[in-house]
Amino acid sequence: MTELILALDVADKDEALALVAPLRGHLRWVKLGLQLFTRHGPQIVECFAGQGFSVFLDLKLHDIPNTVASAIKSLRGRPCSLLTVHTLGGPEMLCFAVESAREALPTTTVLGVTVLTSMDAGQLAAIGLGHAPVDAVRLLARMGIGAGLQGLVCSPQELPVLRAEFGSGPLWVTPGIRAAGAPADDQNRTLTPAEAAAAGASHIVVGRPILKAPDPVRAVLAIQAELAQASGASFGR
Ligand code: C5P
Repeated sequence: MTELILALDVADKDEALALVAPLRGHLRWVKLGLQLFTRHGPQIVECFAGQGFSVFLDLKLHDIPNTVASAIKSLRGRPCSLLTVHTLGGPEMLCFAVESAREALPTTTVLGVTVLTSMDAGQLAAIGLGHAPVDAVRLLARMGIGAGLQGLVCSPQELPVLRAEFGSGPLWVTPGIRAAGAPADDQNRTLTPAEAAAAGASHIVVGRPILKAPDPVRAVLAIQAELAQASGASFGR
């Protein structure tokens, strides 16, 4: 079944801890991103792993191969279950990342971010990639899988094409999740939780729709119910 990852994009650790306290036992995954990492440093990983959550550390590492490999080695021993690098760093950088993670973080799954879900065709063209998003994502996914990545981050809109080519072996982690008619904020390539589950997401990443909900716990439970129903429906097909 598709699992929910809560993106903890909040100002500080105490706010994040208060938010997740009532979710212990209801939610497995939290995503720690640049906002908390730059505020508190890498020990933020222990803080949430120590609360019983599986931690997705979303750093989207993107630099020359040696620097990315060294940054991953600096995370040695941190209890993060998922870690992101950016596939736009290219095949050599990705190979270095996979190799250094194998050595320094052997239990961590390295995911490659493809095209940010905030980008549309116009924004891709502005950075010189005149492809439709799905074609750019497919190209980056091929490169990432070829380099040994164990999963990819993309919009759920691209999943039918990616799953047709790469199957269900890799993890398919999809942000850009919005309920029908809800504000998209800065996201451009969105689907609902049920649509993402039906398209084959292994995990969906949701931030603001939960963080800004009047009752975040209720919002988490509602999304999980939607995922359960969608996966029941796809098993029944
Ligand atoms: O608030 P929202 O649900 O849009 O948050 C999405 C989260 O997923 C953010 O933490 C963002 O950094 C992350 N993300 C994304 N698109 C990607 C990769 C990660 O939105 N391609």
